[in-house]
Amino acid sequence: MTILKSRREIEMMKDAGKISAQALGLVGEAVRVGITTGELDAIAKRFIEKSGAVPSFLGYGGYPATICASVNEQVVHGIPGSRVLMSGDIVSIDLGAIYKGYHGDNAKTYAVGQISKDAQRLIDVTEQAFYAGMDAFETGSRLQSISAAVQETAENAGFSVVRELVGHGIGQQLHEEPNVPNFVTGNKGPRLRVGMVLAIEPMINMGGKETYTLSDGWTVCTSDKSMSSHFEHTVALTENGPEILTKG
Ligand code: MF3
Ligand code: CO
Repeated sequence: MTILKSRREIEMMKDAGKISAQALGLVGEAVRVGITTGELDAIAKRFIEKSGAVPSFLGYGGYPATICASVNEQVVHGIPGSRVLMSGDIVSIDLGAIYKGYHGDNAKTYAVGQISKDAQRLIDVTEQAFYAGMDAFETGSRLQSISAAVQETAENAGFSVVRELVGHGIGQQLHEEPNVPNFVTGNKGPRLRVGMVLAIEPMINMGGKETYTLSDGWTVCTSDKSMSSHFEHTVALTENGPEILTKG
């Protein structure tokens, strides 16, 4: 069942969202040639804990870090560590924070040094796909409209949409109902209502849609090794339309 949030709860989720967004912003500012993904993880952990919040992902299903740092052909759930970022890489950073019992969840793909035009276009289209999805988050519509808007934006640009991972409801749990696929399924999905809070998170590949998981049990990669990009915000549906809660 989808848990609808009151106005008061949405205000509380804005606090968790703000910490999540500020942590992501700090990590983004630190992304540069020569830094390791483990150093980025430490920056996020320190900030979230200093803010009185708890990293959402650390320990979730046994996940060992605060952030996911997924480089190039890695789609999501890359485990940070000793990998050094190089010019031309793209790195998707995903992180969440729990504050006063509520979760914020957001992700963004960053360029490292000088990246190719195609890589930049992939990043731009992924962000556009998110905003197209968010614009479809309207009272009375079906969840499938969000999925369709994301998929159309990505595929019209010649890219493909990952099928194995989806967005999700979010609140007191990191993952709540409903699932938010980035592609149209046979199911129209629930009607969208004020009080719904969704993590809308397109994962877009430059090549084919197929993925596999590395032997670490976490890191999802594109099967054809083409680059992948990720963009995510926690979004609430209010009387005034969709509102991003993960704002810095
Ligand atoms: N942002 C991811 C999601 O929405 C969370 C990563 S899963 C974790 O599903 F295990 F790393 F926490
Ligand atoms: Co998410």
